[in-house]
Amino acid sequence: MKRLLIVYHTMTGGTRQMAVAAAEGASEEKDIEVCVRRAQEAVPEDVLLSDGYVFATPENLASMSGVMKDFFDRCYYPVLDRINGRPYAAMICAGSDGQNALREIDRIATGWRLTRVAPGLIVCTHAQTPERILAEKVIDASDLHRCRELGAALGAGLALGVF
Ligand SMILES: Cc1cc2nc3c(=O)[nH]c(=O)nc-3n(C[C@H](O)[C@H](O)[C@H](O)COP(=O)(O)O)c2cc1C
Repeated sequence: MKRLLIVYHTMTGGTRQMAVAAAEGASEEKDIEVCVRRAQEAVPEDVLLSDGYVFATPENLASMSGVMKDFFDRCYYPVLDRINGRPYAAMICAGSDGQNALREIDRIATGWRLTRVAPGLIVCTHAQTPERILAEKVIDASDLHRCRELGAALGAGLALGVF
């Protein structure tokens, strides 16, 4: 049984919906155990015990969220050189951009010697005023479908052992 770990942080709900959709997609695969962890709760053992990863974060101030960065800060050295080559994908929930948060995650994953198995997925919520940025988000069905497909691809690849 292969295990997919989905680590996410959210402030206004968007990234959580994306993570749940990815988990649903991966769960279509019978031989996959899907473990969804909030970034503030995820620990190095979660990373070590998993065979592949989805990292999902909002873009805040042109960066991954601070809580997501804290997850990587806490886990980076305890798992370094123990997860080389494992597959990952990244998902970003952004108001208008998302590229820099994606670059940051790809850079950390490169340090971990992970293998990116899907292009980074950015969902844009078009929140650009303070009111809209602080409002709870509802991710639309087509974007959730993309997240679900990403999870399904990770799950299928892990189950088939193609990564
Ligand atoms: C403090 C703060 C900074 C933000 N900075 C950016 C940014 O640099 N680029 C961007 O595209 N969106 C930015 N946003 C918008 C969020 O990415 C957007 O609201 C997204 O939906 C948040 O995801 P969440 O709903 O999972 O919290 C920012 C939001 C906050 C609260």
